[in-house]
Amino acid sequence: MTEPRPTITRAPFGRLPDGQAVEAFTLTSGRGMELRVITYGGIITYWRVPDRDGRTDDVVLGHETLEGYLQPTSRYFGALAGRYANRIAKAQFALDGHTYTLAANNGPNALHGGLKGFDKVVWAAEPFERPGEVGVVLTHTSPDGDQGYPGTVKVQVTYTVTTRNELRVDYRATTDKATPINLTQHTYFNLAGDGRRDVLDHVLTINADRFTPVDPTLIPTGELAPAEETPFDFRKPVPIGARIDADDEQLRRGRGYDHNFVLNATAGALVHAAHVSEPTTGRTLDVYTDQPGMQFYSGNFLDGSAVGKDGHVYKQRFGFCLETQHFPDSPNQPAFPSTILRPGDEFTTTTVFAFGTE
Ligand code: GLA
Repeated sequence: MTEPRPTITRAPFGRLPDGQAVEAFTLTSGRGMELRVITYGGIITYWRVPDRDGRTDDVVLGHETLEGYLQPTSRYFGALAGRYANRIAKAQFALDGHTYTLAANNGPNALHGGLKGFDKVVWAAEPFERPGEVGVVLTHTSPDGDQGYPGTVKVQVTYTVTTRNELRVDYRATTDKATPINLTQHTYFNLAGDGRRDVLDHVLTINADRFTPVDPTLIPTGELAPAEETPFDFRKPVPIGARIDADDEQLRRGRGYDHNFVLNATAGALVHAAHVSEPTTGRTLDVYTDQPGMQFYSGNFLDGSAVGKDGHVYKQRFGFCLETQHFPDSPNQPAFPSTILRPGDEFTTTTVFAFGTE
């Protein structure tokens, strides 16, 4: 019996309008999983995994070419979000006596790090190979004042593929001035195959007793509400679509699920955050993280304007995101776990996406 052997290869992936070259890394697990990461936005452009009969298919939304990702209809497909993933209310926050103003790029609020967040920069990249795993280390320096945020932030994101058909994402950041940090991976999954149909039959379990209800602009009210007896109770497996159109004010505000779940976590430890299974293919996805929260977004704002790989039209709820992160708007919510990184400290966090079949 030969041991599965992961591989990594490197190739050009076009140029930005300003001439910057973008590269693509193709990582294989040696056990049927293959994904591609590009240096623009740290985007995962495709992710092929086997179904229960061993047939592989691409299970993420995205584009074939760099041009696709430069269009405004590309809604953070597969990208790294930062410096502050998710929303900051009224695009401002106070820190150590200063008020910082950000771009309001989502109604009155700031979303996903600003007009040019970490999803829109070209990262430096170094591939590596180790016994049983391969990966790529992405690094980026965000200058003091970038998008309105204080401090020069050095950020490193390592994508590692293992023979267990896992992708591990390790994030690190340091700063020279106090600043908020919240980093996540914004892949849209559809385990039935990219862009084929909606994700409402996927069966989801989330290890969360509570969630953070939101105001009409999707900013947490500050309450940690019990999920029990609400459409937000995913503690036992439930199809995503079972209650998505229920008569519920929170679902109306999100046009479906677009909420942060308060994970039943042990601070600092990797916990099982979510399990997803797709009945027709038997594909499963498990998410592990050490973060306190996870945004479950059911792709409500997809409206058919984005045309992705193989000409697939991404309609409402054709993909879902499980964005492990801190709670939205933490810089303005003193009762939430702190997202402030200070000089001399290092921000580190890990999320694992593990594929299987059942
Ligand atoms: C996050 C937000 C959503 C939406 C998407 C991008 O998941 O919570 O409301 O903005 O990003 O379209």
